[in-house]
Amino acid sequence: MKRILNSLAAGLAAIMLAGSAHAAGGAEHPHGPEEGFPHEGVFGRFEMDSVQRGYQVYREVCSSCHGMKLLHYRNLGEPGGPFYDPNYPNANDNPLVKEFAAQDTITDATPDEFGDPVQRPARPSDQFKSPYANEQQARAANGGALPPDFSVITKARHGGANYIYSLITGYPSWDVMGDGEIEFGEEYSVHEGDEHGLHGTLIQPQGQYYNPYMAGDTTPQWEGDPRHAPPGGFLAMPPQLSDGQVEYLDGTEATVEQMAYDVAQFLAWAGEPKQTNRKKAGVAVLIYLALLAGVLWLSYKRIWRNVAH
Ligand code: HEC
Repeated sequence: MKRILNSLAAGLAAIMLAGSAHAAGGAEHPHGPEEGFPHEGVFGRFEMDSVQRGYQVYREVCSSCHGMKLLHYRNLGEPGGPFYDPNYPNANDNPLVKEFAAQDTITDATPDEFGDPVQRPARPSDQFKSPYANEQQARAANGGALPPDFSVITKARHGGANYIYSLITGYPSWDVMGDGEIEFGEEYSVHEGDEHGLHGTLIQPQGQYYNPYMAGDTTPQWEGDPRHAPPGGFLAMPPQLSDGQVEYLDGTEATVEQMAYDVAQFLAWAGEPKQTNRKKAGVAVLIYLALLAGVLWLSYKRIWRNVAH
C-alpha cells in the first residue's frame, strides 16, 4: 500500500513540476476575459449571442486574411450553431445562412463549357471562402508570414480561446504601430498589475509587432538587462481591433474587449461545433451513473442484510 502511495506521490510531483516548467516559458500566460468564458467547464455552454457577434467580427475583420476551410456555411445553422433555427431543421434552407453564404463570391468547382472558371455567390453547402488562392499568395500579401487557418485554432494553441483573447487585446497600447522602438521604463508595465520592472528598449524588427502573449524570445531585440527581457515575442500581424470597428447588428457596444471576447468564442465554437450536445450528453451520463450507483448500493445493503460480515 505504502509503495503504491509513494509512486502515486512521485507521479503527482512530476506532473506538478512539468506544469511549473511550462509556466516559466517565454510568453505571458493567457488570462482571457475577467469573468472567463461561458463555454468552459463541464456545465459550460456557448453564449450564442456572443458567438453570433463573433461571426460578424470574423467576417468583417479577420476573414480577409484568415480562412476557415473546414467550415461550411450551413454549419452556422446546424443544431448547436449560432444561427440554428428550429423552423429550418435543414440548415441549407435557413434564410439567414443563405444570406451569409451569398455575401461571398466563389469559384464553382465545375468550369463553363469553354473550361473557364465560373464565379457565383456561395451557397450554404459551400466551404467558407478562402481569402487567398494559395499559400504563396497568402505569404506574399503578409510580408512572408502565413496567417493560420482558423478552423481549429483554439485547439491548436495552448490556452485556446483565452489565448486568442489575450493575444488580440495584448498588444502594448503605448506603441501601436510606432517607429519600431518600444521604451520600457518605470511607468510602463506589459499589462496592468504587472511588476516586471522592465527598463530598456525593445527594437521591433521591420514588419513585426511585439506581443507579450506570442511565443518567442525578445532577448536579441532587447537593449537592457538581458535577464529582464520582456516576455513574449514578435508576430507579423499588426493590432487588428479598435473601438467601434464593427457595428454590431444587435446593438452591443463594440469595444476592443467585447469584439475579442466574441470572436474568441466564435472560434472556440468553430473548433468544436458539437460541444453543446456533447456536454449535455456527458451530464446526462453522469446523472445516470450517480442514480445507478445509488440503486446498486441499496441492493447491496439488501442482499447482505442478514449475513454476518
Ligand atoms: C491583414 C491580415 C490579417 C488580419 C485582418 C488578421 N490577421 Fe491574424 N495574422 C495575420 C498574420 C500574417 C499572422 C501570422 C503572424 C506570424 O506568424 O508572424 C496572423 C496570426 C494570427 C494568430 C496566430 C498567432 C500564433 O499563435 O501563431 C491569431 C490568433 C490571429 N492572427 C488572430 C486574428 C484575429 C482574431 C483577427 C480578426 C480580429 C485577425 N487575426 C486578423 C494577419 C492578419
